[in-house]
Amino acid sequence: MEISVIGAGYVGLTIAVGFASLGYKVTVYDKDEGKINFLINGVAPLQEPGLGDLLKKVNNNLEFTHNFDDTISSSQILFIAVNTDFKNGKVRLSNFNRTIKQILRQKNLEDKTVVIKSTVPIGTTENVEKTLKGKFGNKVRVAFNPEFLREGHALQDFLNPDRIVLGVNDKVTKEILLQLYEAINAPKLFVDFKTAEMIKYASNAFLATKISFINEIANLCEIFGADIRKVSDGIGLDKRIGKDFLNAGIGFGGSCLPKDLKTLIYLAKQKKYEAKLLDSVRLVNEEQISRFVKKIEKALRGKPKKIAVWGVSFKGGTDDIRDSPAIKVIKQLIKKGYEISLYDPKALQNAKKELRGNVSYFDNYLEAVSEKSALLVLSDWREFLSFDLDETRRRMKDYYFFDGRNLFNPEEVKSKGFLYFCTG
Ligand code: UGA
Repeated sequence: MEISVIGAGYVGLTIAVGFASLGYKVTVYDKDEGKINFLINGVAPLQEPGLGDLLKKVNNNLEFTHNFDDTISSSQILFIAVNTDFKNGKVRLSNFNRTIKQILRQKNLEDKTVVIKSTVPIGTTENVEKTLKGKFGNKVRVAFNPEFLREGHALQDFLNPDRIVLGVNDKVTKEILLQLYEAINAPKLFVDFKTAEMIKYASNAFLATKISFINEIANLCEIFGADIRKVSDGIGLDKRIGKDFLNAGIGFGGSCLPKDLKTLIYLAKQKKYEAKLLDSVRLVNEEQISRFVKKIEKALRGKPKKIAVWGVSFKGGTDDIRDSPAIKVIKQLIKKGYEISLYDPKALQNAKKELRGNVSYFDNYLEAVSEKSALLVLSDWREFLSFDLDETRRRMKDYYFFDGRNLFNPEEVKSKGFLYFCTG
């Protein structure tokens, strides 16, 4: 079986390289010519652990092209992995719809299986199937195969998934997909299109709910004087709850959780259902930012408004700043007249494009803190834990330490002479 992948983002590229490593011949197309040129030269255009190395290793099985039609004609399985968005209160499917139009321009799709990876509103796969069968007849097959990759772990998640969800409408498609994923040892769940689409939204909405839940409990811990980290441990040991995604802080961001949550609320509203729980999850997440900013303002009253920030990406281990809570905190602080000195291991270039006003950028964490009143930790980079806190404290003018990710051990930070603030 030969495979094509439309879209060389972190999902498309990961599955392309992943399938190539399983021995399939894979052709990748992206409308961004620069991206394809990078890939033709053997360079991964995004940061994902192990991806660049594996890309070089399996290069013989990979082809990158600027030509959409070539991509389609050479393969039996066609993955659509272009991004979808939610902006200004609406679902945006422009890249996805354009791809479907490009597919419709083909002369023949006989015996090809179009597999949608992009996260699409419930009902989309059914419409796509109707449209494609309408033009090409019953010999074209359609499936929905949601993605559960985490940025920073994408390759590992592709090769060792917890489950593979496959939305199919007929037995032949089921057999083809079983064969495709034969080498991957994971439960394979075959369901109808709409159920598969809902599983994707529900997964991200549940993860978001867990985070807003623990953040609300953390806020209550502050009020009552309990310790959220121990509460997380205490509830997480119950297998029905599980210990993951119980880390309190400034909330969830990134290109998926906020978007998919808002989309589900929006889709519900279109059907006249008010998704009250999900809307509260969104609200708690948004308010977590202003609560944190208020905490900083209150503690720093009367102090010079010069603060250092470590971490601007939406989570540690990535240069991605899309919907990053760190960016939101920084923007609020700039508005309130604070001067920001920003350090991040990988995301500074992206931050420069997004932030305006009183921000300076440092590629050295110690230079960023010099003569500052306070230090803010806004993404959970593991490497921050090995930074020299004695030297950090020596260089700072004052001793305020705000850990927006509950990353550090409070006792250790306090022992270095800091006044430590976190969530809960
Ligand atoms: C998320 C899902 O975890 C993936 O399963 C899914 O495939 C992906 O979205 C997607 O739909 O494409 P990702 O966006 O890479 O993956 O990020 P996560 O690791 O889920 O983190 C999301 C946000 O939640 C980050 O801002 C992170 O810092 C925050 N978070 C996470 C917390 O605040 N607390 C936690 O305990 C865990």
